[in-house]
Formats: sequence, structure tokens, C-alpha cells
Amino acid sequence: MQNLIKESKRIYSQFLLHGPKYLDTFDFQPITKFTIEALQTKSLQDYINKNLTMHQEISMLPIQFEPDNSFAFAIFTLAPSVTMPLHDHPDMFVLSYVLHGDGIREGWNIKQTHLEKLNQFKKTSIQQDVMVEPEELPRLSLKAGSICYTTPSSCNLHSFINNSSTEPFVFLDIIVPHYDENTNRTITYFERKKDNQLKLLQQDEL
Ligand SMILES: [Fe+2]
Repeated sequence: MQNLIKESKRIYSQFLLHGPKYLDTFDFQPITKFTIEALQTKSLQDYINKNLTMHQEISMLPIQFEPDNSFAFAIFTLAPSVTMPLHDHPDMFVLSYVLHGDGIREGWNIKQTHLEKLNQFKKTSIQQDVMVEPEELPRLSLKAGSICYTTPSSCNLHSFINNSSTEPFVFLDIIVPHYDENTNRTITYFERKKDNQLKLLQQDEL
């Protein structure tokens, strides 16, 4: 776990220096290796075995959260047949490592021209329908050991679907940096509409 924390701190400091583009271009191999290494440690395995529950449709088990939101590690569990709503990770890097089950990741790349629209939406409380038309990526089938990545310009909108009607779908997220209400890193949810359009959802529409 220490290597994973050290690498997450390093990535965050480079993000502060170079901006979000750093998160698109750095070498993902070390953080991937340190994630797998952390998951092989007995202390983390014991913690997961003791605390992982699936009493809700979607549950989150915190592993490590930094008070300054520089990074966060958490395990998400989707109950059988549950879909995690489509959401974004503005200016964030996320490594998702599947621990258990059979799932699908749906992903979209938001166009640069639509980012401004999205940012305006985040700043205003005026109720009006705002749509974006992102590029839809091929669906990824995920099973235990699968890894997928989210970066500021690649697959920044995503959704996870539990493909199994009997088993939970469980994955660990390594998030650098984390959501932070004091920055532009706030979450937006989307609803799929026809013609590849996505409608941005207000908090009260969730
Ligand atoms: Fe996510």
C-alpha cells in the first residue's frame, strides 16, 4: 500500500504542476503494478473480507481518503443486475480494477466544444435541459482481474453495469485527484437519450 500511496502523491504533485493533461499522458504502468501489489497484501485482503457488504444496490467501502482530496481509494459493489449511473470525472484519473463478477463498462469521450457547456451547467442552478453529444466508446467486458482507465480526455464519462443476475460486481477505484467541491472536480450525472445524446441531470432529477 505504501508504494501505491507514494505513486498517487507523485501523480497529484505532477497534476498540480502541469495540469490535467498530465493525467492523460503519464505512464500508467507503475500505478497499475502498485495497485495489484497492494491487493495481494494480507492486511488489505483481511480488511476487504471483513468489511465488504452488498446490502444496498450500490455500496462503497473506503480504503484510503485524503483530507485534501489529492487521491482516494475505494471499493464499489453493485448488487446483481444493478447499473451504476452514468457520471463524469472532470480533470481526474481513475484506475478501476475488477475484484469479482461479470460487468460491462460503457464509456464516452466528451468533445472539447461541449466541455464549456458542461462547465456552465455545473455553475448554474437554472432548470433547463442541456444535452451533449459525446463520442461513444466500445463497451468493455470486465471480469476479475480486468483493468480500465479514465482520464480527462479519454472515457471521462462512464457507467458500470453488473451483467450477472446472481453475483455482485466488485471493483477497486484508484482516483487521482478526487472530487472536490472547491474546484471544478464536481460530479455530474447523465441520462442517455436518443441519437447518441446525453442529458445532463440536475441533483433533483437523480
Ligand atoms: Fe466513476
